[in-house]
Amino acid sequence: MKGIDLGRGLILRNPVLGASGTYGYGTEYTDFLDLSSIGGVVVKGTTLYAREGNLYPRMAETPSGMLNAVGLQNKGVHYFVEEIYPLIQKYPTVMIVNVSGSSIKDYVETAEIINSLEHIPAIELNISCPNVKEGGMAFGTTPEGANEVVRAVRKVYKKHLMVKLTPNVTDITKIALAVEEAGADSLSLINTLLGMAIDIKTQRPKLSTVTGGLSGPAVRPIAVRMVWQVKQKVSIPVVGLGGIACWEDAIEFMLAGASAVQIGTFNFVDPTICGKVAKGICDYMKQKGYTSYNELTGALKLEC
Ligand SMILES: Cc1cc2nc3c(=O)[nH]c(=O)nc-3n(C[C@H](O)[C@H](O)[C@H](O)COP(=O)(O)O)c2cc1C
Repeated sequence: MKGIDLGRGLILRNPVLGASGTYGYGTEYTDFLDLSSIGGVVVKGTTLYAREGNLYPRMAETPSGMLNAVGLQNKGVHYFVEEIYPLIQKYPTVMIVNVSGSSIKDYVETAEIINSLEHIPAIELNISCPNVKEGGMAFGTTPEGANEVVRAVRKVYKKHLMVKLTPNVTDITKIALAVEEAGADSLSLINTLLGMAIDIKTQRPKLSTVTGGLSGPAVRPIAVRMVWQVKQKVSIPVVGLGGIACWEDAIEFMLAGASAVQIGTFNFVDPTICGKVAKGICDYMKQKGYTSYNELTGALKLEC
C-alpha cells in the first residue's frame, strides 16, 4: 500500500500514530510491538524547561474513558535533545515531537531547537492542553490566539508543522481556519475535553486540579464530528484522534476526512493496539479494492 504524504516532507508508512502523552518516547512500547508496523509516534509533550506536572491524584477512571491532569510532566527540550534523541533517532518509524509552552517565546524557542534535529521531520504544536495554568489551551481557544502562536512558530520551524486543536470551543472550524491561515501544514484533533469527577465518599474532586481532560471511547463521536466539520472547511490534511479502540473506529475517522489517526488512551488497555489498527485498516482497504489511503479519506457517503 502506498504511504501517506502529509506535506513538507512528512511521509507515513501507514495512517496510525501513537498519541502524545500516552506513548512515551516509543521506547516503552518496543517490547510489545515492532515500531515499523505503525506510521509513527508522537512523543510526550515537550517544553522549553523541565516541568514536574500536577500534584497527585492526576488520573481518574470514568465510564468508557479517563480523566487526566498530568500537566505536561517532562524534563525539557534540552534533556530531550541530549538524552532521548540519540536513542530514538534510529527507530524504524516516524518520530514527531509534541511541543507545548506557557508563552509564545517558549513555543518558538522549543520549536527552533527541534528544527535542527535531522531525524525529526515534524512537530505537533500543542495549543490545546487543558491541564496547565498558563498557556496550553489558552492559545487554542480563540482564532486570534491560535493564529498568533502558529504564525510565530512558522517563522522559525521549517519542517512539517502539525497543530493540535482543543475541542473545548464553541466552533472548532474557526480555530482550524485561523491555524491554516497562519501556515500550519496539518491539524490534529482532538485533545481532551474538560471534565470533572467527584468522590462521593470523601466529597472531594477525584483530581488534585479539580478539573482534567477526558479521553477514551466516551469522546469518540465528538471527535469524529469535529474532524468532519473541520475537513469541510480546511484544505490541509487532518489527523483524527479521540477514543479509538479498534480498527473500525479508525476507519470512521478516515471516512469523516482524516488522512491519518492517532491512538491515545487505548494503549493503556492494549499496548499492541496501534499495530492491530494499522493491520485492520490495511485489510479493509484491500477488501474494498483501494490501493491508496487517500481513497479512504473523506469517502463518507451522505446521499441515501
Ligand atoms: C495521560 C495522558 C497524557 C496526555 N498528554 C498529552 C500531551 O503531553 N500532549 C498532548 O498534545 N496531548 C496529550 N494527551 C492527549 C492525547 O494525546 C489525546 O489527544 C487524547 O487523549 C484523545 O485521544 P484518546 O481518546 O485516544 O486518548 C494526553 C492524554 C492522556 C490520556
